[in-house]
Amino acid sequence: MCGIIAYSGAQQALPILLNGLKQLEYRGYDSAGICINHRKRLKIARSAGKLAALEGILPDAMKGQCGIGHTRWATHGAPTEQNAHPHTDAAGSLALVHNGIIENTDQLRALLVEKDIEFRSETDTELLAHLLSLLMTEQQLNLVDAVRQMAAQLVGTYGIAVTSVAAPDEIVLARNGSPVIIGIGENEMLAASDKAALSRYTRDIVHLDDGEIALLTPQGFEVTTLDATVKTKPTTKLTGPIESYEKDGHPHFLYKEIVDQPETVSRTIGGRLDHQFNTAKLGGLNLEPRELLGVKRIKILGCGSALYAGMAGAQMIESLSRVPADAEAAAEFRYRNPVIERDTIYIVVSQSGETFDTLAATREIQRKGGFVLGIVNSVGSTIAREVNGGIYMHAGPEVSVASTKAYTSMLMVFKLFALMLGRTRDISPQRGAVLLESIQGMPDKINEVLTLESRIAEIAGQYCGVQSAFFVGRTTAWPVALEGAQKLKEISYIHAEAYPASELKHGPLALVTEQTPCIVIVPDDELLAKSIGTIEEIRARNAPVIVITDAQDPRINTLATHVINTPPTETLLQGVVSGVALQLFAYHSAVALGRDVDQPRNLAKSVTVE
Ligand code: G6P
Repeated sequence: MCGIIAYSGAQQALPILLNGLKQLEYRGYDSAGICINHRKRLKIARSAGKLAALEGILPDAMKGQCGIGHTRWATHGAPTEQNAHPHTDAAGSLALVHNGIIENTDQLRALLVEKDIEFRSETDTELLAHLLSLLMTEQQLNLVDAVRQMAAQLVGTYGIAVTSVAAPDEIVLARNGSPVIIGIGENEMLAASDKAALSRYTRDIVHLDDGEIALLTPQGFEVTTLDATVKTKPTTKLTGPIESYEKDGHPHFLYKEIVDQPETVSRTIGGRLDHQFNTAKLGGLNLEPRELLGVKRIKILGCGSALYAGMAGAQMIESLSRVPADAEAAAEFRYRNPVIERDTIYIVVSQSGETFDTLAATREIQRKGGFVLGIVNSVGSTIAREVNGGIYMHAGPEVSVASTKAYTSMLMVFKLFALMLGRTRDISPQRGAVLLESIQGMPDKINEVLTLESRIAEIAGQYCGVQSAFFVGRTTAWPVALEGAQKLKEISYIHAEAYPASELKHGPLALVTEQTPCIVIVPDDELLAKSIGTIEEIRARNAPVIVITDAQDPRINTLATHVINTPPTETLLQGVVSGVALQLFAYHSAVALGRDVDQPRNLAKSVTVE
């Protein structure tokens, strides 16, 4: 998704802006651009494609200590140089970068057409540059007041950074719905849409909130509201290592994130296992045990892999606490005017903490008086700041667009929450102890799955030429099948669909032939005989069957084309181990096909627009 970086200070801006854009690359983008404000001139370079293409066309002299940069993920208009940001007004006196989508473009365009302004791109962002320029010239406004006036006229979402020749060391920022973070340095100020782009330069950051405008100069910043009231903003300290995204010798970020999972899962569960009461300790819930006891329902909301993790989480919660729970796509939920219940806990799940639909669902629930818990990875992200209570995943920054380590950490957080809720109700201390032990053993189980890599890679290589694949599972294996299909389609572009095993015969079986490998996830649970029946059903249509199982039943070896034996695991955590096996399967399929594993086409890491 689009990324913003801005700098004003004592150093040369260009290397800092380029480095910032590099840190934002992981979000997914298809063009990039930079503007340096120097000696009453704006020097702009933009290019379609990756940052390397932009670096290749940079003019020799791009000196200057103030500038803005952008990586664009096309929404309005194709990913071309003309549509890349920054955009300028007709006179070239100001340049602007923008994340988000402006909705009242027709109205703004009509206003600008009346003034005979010609457009050079198909973007909503260019309209903003012209509009700002008009406000500055016709109403004699300074840059910050012009941005304020403009913001009052905008409908839609935006994170904006602007620089103007009228004030060569000023950057003005505005936010509504798209993250903007200020980085405070010594004699320099930065801003970005993601703290990853700032952490190399400063540890002190300030999150802008919706409806706020900020003026940056090398000496400091001032935040005001749309009605020009000055706001005092708290500074947040970045902790932990500099979030520099390195592959650490691995061929792809995705691979690094897959093999890091024993470590990331350890971090997620670290300090949260309470062996005295055989439960989980989750500090940030902001719920008293008495309130937990009163909970009648759990509703989980998320998008993409977070939704699938939520589906698995709902099963864990319902199974261990006997509180009815289900998961739904965040956007569907918010648009269907849902009934919000007093005794329901709403859980929003998000790696980035910035996914627009998940954030919008959070706000809709809270507006109606509901209580929202967040399961979030990115510390200090918008969702993390707005929820009523939450649990951080502590998986560390996830760079590759396709989610892997965040997904497994989501599952682990759900398991901890389900255990804790279960221990306020049905679960005995003895059973709690057994469940704690299974949670504690997960890093080792994941390590065992990772040893299966060469075998999984071999099978992936054998089938990566197919047009289509099916993923099948029952009950706890059903969300795993969804996530397995999601991973394969995202990064290898092989068409993949997931079905609950029982649904096969209600339609998809018509497509099952020797050309469609079926990946069947078979947990060693009470439905084992039924899962074996599913394998038989598929084999009868001559389709290759790849079984992922922790069961030792000899019938599986007889029937299946390939068997990947994962370590025996407690049923509700089986999705973690089979999930890792499916990540490796998708990864090796994509590598065998020569795909752009970390930045698959058309996808973005954090979708901050609708
Ligand atoms: C995008 C990503 C997915 C991710 C989804 C939700 O679509 O490509 O990998 O699962 O957003 O992201 P979140 O940050 O809210 O977990």
